[in-house]
Amino acid sequence: FDGQPGPTPIAITRTSKPKVHPADDELRFGSVFTDHMFRMDYTEGKGWHDAKIIPYQPFSLDPATSVLHYAQSVFDGLKAYRGQDGSIRFFRAAKHADRLNRSCGYLCIPPLDPELVVQSFHALVGVDQSWVPSKRGTSLYLRPAVIASESFLGVHPSKTYTYFLILSPVGPYYAEGINPVKILATDAHVRAVQGGLGAAKTAANYAASILGAEEAQKMGYTQVLWLDGVEHRYLDEVGTMNIMLKIGDEIITPPLNGAILAGVTRDSILTLCRDWGLKTSERRISIDEVMAAARNGTLVEMWGTGTAAVVSPVGELGYKDERVTINGGKTGTLTQKLYDAIVGIQYGETEDRHEWTTTL
Ligand code: COI
Repeated sequence: FDGQPGPTPIAITRTSKPKVHPADDELRFGSVFTDHMFRMDYTEGKGWHDAKIIPYQPFSLDPATSVLHYAQSVFDGLKAYRGQDGSIRFFRAAKHADRLNRSCGYLCIPPLDPELVVQSFHALVGVDQSWVPSKRGTSLYLRPAVIASESFLGVHPSKTYTYFLILSPVGPYYAEGINPVKILATDAHVRAVQGGLGAAKTAANYAASILGAEEAQKMGYTQVLWLDGVEHRYLDEVGTMNIMLKIGDEIITPPLNGAILAGVTRDSILTLCRDWGLKTSERRISIDEVMAAARNGTLVEMWGTGTAAVVSPVGELGYKDERVTINGGKTGTLTQKLYDAIVGIQYGETEDRHEWTTTL
């Protein structure tokens, strides 16, 4: 044990073979991992136990391990930033830990104390802090996850689980940085439905998105604009992000109705828009309303929100036989302003009035 902050003792084994750090300029998204990982196991009757930091390493899994067959798993994603002052800040770490715990509930995974999850963030980033890059636009991405680890082919909640946390120094999610993307609204594929898993950050939702995304890419689009699973009319999400748009002076995003993820960036942006006195609505919005607004010139801006890319402007929208350009295919003024405001807080450059950041 190595004097890490927090109530749970964490055993630390340091690597004897530290890796070479990539240059900040070469960072992409999620392909390089740091020297260490955090691991903790759950056993029925015993609870969560054996919190430890160990050298980054593969798992050894029985081929019958239930997560491999039935996807009983959850994950989350958050970032730590190195400011110009050298200090390392987490962005909304407690909110991500809460969401991971809520995601567990949807998958019958035993609760994971959010305070212990935050403790694991601090402990592991503390050990691997030399891996937090400093160039603007780069950060350290934290990927906490829980997997069902029982070896048994029946479909039931596992009796054992593994919580783990890995870290990846990252650059921009899209190689082009903040650049407008082309999206396709389709009724051929559905990401999630109300009453299903849409509000959980779980493997199944991402698995469900892969075929639709591939088809959209073949048609020249970057992402799918997911419509609701029942009427195929109302906007749900875009790609792996929440969707927002500005029609006239109203900023609109779909409500948290059980089919979409409660995005942390979504919440941060709604809060900023309200701080700025803008008219914001969490309401259902149909693809017909969006297309009509695009045709009559009132659709001013459209963007996705997520941890990985922060905001991703939408420059073009396809639906059925129509393709419309939004804001001349350029990043909108509000989209850019929101990006700058969030990033300024993340790097500790602008006032953090909602106390979203916590330092290491
Ligand atoms: C996001 O942060 O927008 C994501 O959903 C991350 C993705 C790599 C799953």
